[in-house]
Amino acid sequence: MELKHLTAAWKRGTDFLGTRYAILCGAMTWVSESNLVAAISNEGGFGVLAGGNMPPDLLSREIEATRRKTRFPFGVNLITVAPNFKDQIEVVVREKAPFVFFAGSIPSGRDIEQAKTGGGKVICFAPVLSLARRLIKQGADALVIEGNEAGGHIGPVATSVLAQEFLLSLTEVPIFVAGGIGTGEMIAQYLMLGAAGAQLGTRFVVAEECVAHPRFKEAFIRAQARDAMPTSQFDPSLPTIPVRAIVNEGTKDFNRLQFDLLSKVKSGEIPREEAQVKLEEFWVGALRRAVVEGDVEHGSLMAGQSVAFVRKIQPVREIIEDLVSAAERKLAELSGGGPVVPAGSLCR
Ligand SMILES: Cc1cc2nc3c(=O)[nH]c(=O)nc-3n(C[C@H](O)[C@H](O)[C@H](O)COP(=O)(O)O)c2cc1C
Repeated sequence: MELKHLTAAWKRGTDFLGTRYAILCGAMTWVSESNLVAAISNEGGFGVLAGGNMPPDLLSREIEATRRKTRFPFGVNLITVAPNFKDQIEVVVREKAPFVFFAGSIPSGRDIEQAKTGGGKVICFAPVLSLARRLIKQGADALVIEGNEAGGHIGPVATSVLAQEFLLSLTEVPIFVAGGIGTGEMIAQYLMLGAAGAQLGTRFVVAEECVAHPRFKEAFIRAQARDAMPTSQFDPSLPTIPVRAIVNEGTKDFNRLQFDLLSKVKSGEIPREEAQVKLEEFWVGALRRAVVEGDVEHGSLMAGQSVAFVRKIQPVREIIEDLVSAAERKLAELSGGGPVVPAGSLCR
């Protein structure tokens, strides 16, 4: 299919990433390892390794394994609050990872600077405009904005609102939009608003090339948008970051753990920080049980509301072709046959 409209609409994104398509498969812990990442990049998208939870030597091996499986660009995602974060930065520098994504919280200027010494570009998640501007000043080469429709750890604001806030007022760096995107038509809409590209996670979980357990994939295929719910924080004395996942027994396990830890914090039995670490450890362990062992009852089924658009297991090539062709058709329709000019493109 000739991409008459898309090629121009996401040029900023494809130029930045060095890809055919500005479609990223966001890092997913336990899910985004070398097979899925390489498959995405080989099919013209941009895969991102989930490095945040990997011990440094495994991270190093996974980067090498990905390089053996694809000659196309890919990224490495690090979580700033992970216990091995500082050692992991050293790994991405040593391995000369071409793109480093910082998730979890806001990285320091020094982290960004250090990551760039390996020659790679740095992409940061930006929750609010003021922090986005600071990150750009500190050297971030691009941003991801992720709305709370997304799977996994989420912020409080919807993708549609973040998109208007960021895309209409920030033009210094490419901005990739994530959260709740399940169709090419939606990608086209965000491109029209000025996005450089789109990041999806949930839809790629059911890719044939994804190593996730078949029961994990089946749970995604069965679920509706309303099944992917965020967790609640019970009391501000134990702050928790909401996690969006398909509701199951694991959700109840998390709630019980939160109550238990909350009473321990309140009675002074353990400090708040220790309780927060335990809550985060719960997610890493529960996600592993679901993704790797197929425990879809008590494991965590982190998924976005875009699970509504997950209907069958498909090869990565088919998922990407489906997204690309639908986005192209939508842009053609919106343009009424003329050239498509995304918002903000005149001031870049
Ligand atoms: C199972 C799962 C695990 C995830 N793990 C991570 C992670 O480790 N680091 C990260 O930055 N984002 C993580 N995410 C978010 C994705 O990278 C991506 O931004 C998000 O899935 C996009 O929204 P969508 O779920 O609506 O497609 C995860 C998402 C899912 C569904």
